[in-house]
Amino acid sequence: MTAAITGIGAALPERTVPNSYFEAIGSSDEWIVKRTGIRERRFLPEDGRLADLAVTAARTALRQAGRDAADLRHVVVATTTPDRTTPGLAVEVAARLGTPQAAAFDLHAACAGFVYALDHGTALIESGRARAVLVCGAEALTRITDPADRSTAVLLGDGAGAVVLTDLPDAPVAPAFHLASDGEHIGLLYADRHDRKLRMDGPEIFVHAVDKMSDATRRVLERCELTCDDVDLFVAHQANARIVKAVGKEIGVPPERLFLNVDRVANTSSASIPIALAHAQEDGRLGPSGVLGVAAFGAGITWGAGVLGWRLG
Ligand code: ACO
Repeated sequence: MTAAITGIGAALPERTVPNSYFEAIGSSDEWIVKRTGIRERRFLPEDGRLADLAVTAARTALRQAGRDAADLRHVVVATTTPDRTTPGLAVEVAARLGTPQAAAFDLHAACAGFVYALDHGTALIESGRARAVLVCGAEALTRITDPADRSTAVLLGDGAGAVVLTDLPDAPVAPAFHLASDGEHIGLLYADRHDRKLRMDGPEIFVHAVDKMSDATRRVLERCELTCDDVDLFVAHQANARIVKAVGKEIGVPPERLFLNVDRVANTSSASIPIALAHAQEDGRLGPSGVLGVAAFGAGITWGAGVLGWRLG
């Protein structure tokens, strides 16, 4: 069994927030664009439901994959900001899609969550325990953002994305992943139980992000006996355009095979890679089939990279 992406979807909240919104807290469009590449982001209203976005993204992905929700035995949602403390988002997403008795759970690995979830989904297919798996990334980071803290507030946005993984015997590549964590660095990026807002050492996170995503990508390529030239599109966690470009330079991915949409949506944590995949598809950057490289990095610290194929109808 070989897993590949056969459907992609994304959903964003309606409200677009331009950089000028942050002039009130001492920032500026010029500073934000220069240091991050971000131009705008979407905000979910305070009473908005993240499950609505996740369900919309999932339906689009299922439609493209030509699958009924009833085909799904597993629904995994990577998130750090679910609608409820318990139960997680995945059970509501599964129920609203109409997947009778699918296994459904949330996966929390901060911004690396979607790559962790992809690894899990591909493993379920490779082991023969599932024929189709829905992997979602959904975040309402505004729920854990201090709106007065310019060092984090300008970076974050809300949204959801989803992919359908199915068994594809002639997939362009056999999936491979490298996942890791280092809890010694919890203090660099966290939201604690009382404050509930993200606190971050930006410059330190920047250095770790470039180093860890590059290292993980090299390990995965080596394991598959591939080089960057074999990867058709590289989609890294969209934290900051400078971070993504630095990773591309470090591992040797040319700009035309590096995807960036952080300008449109900012950092949406575990939703960033599936939203980027949906935008890449809209922009005509994903052909009918190819080899995808992914890499992500987040609080913990957690990180990971992977390669897998896509085939889209
Ligand atoms: N607007 C204007 N000035 C600002 C802002 C802002 N939004 N934020 C910080 N500054 C100021 C600082 O106060 C500092 O001023 P000083 O020189 O007078 O002290 C100056 O800009 C430089 O600050 P640095 O933090 O050194 O700026 P840097 O070039 O490192 O850029 C940034 C900051 C964009 C945060 C960068 O470090 C970064 O991208 N780090 C990684 C962040 C990340 O990806 N985090 C993970 C995301 S969070 C999550 O996981 C959901």
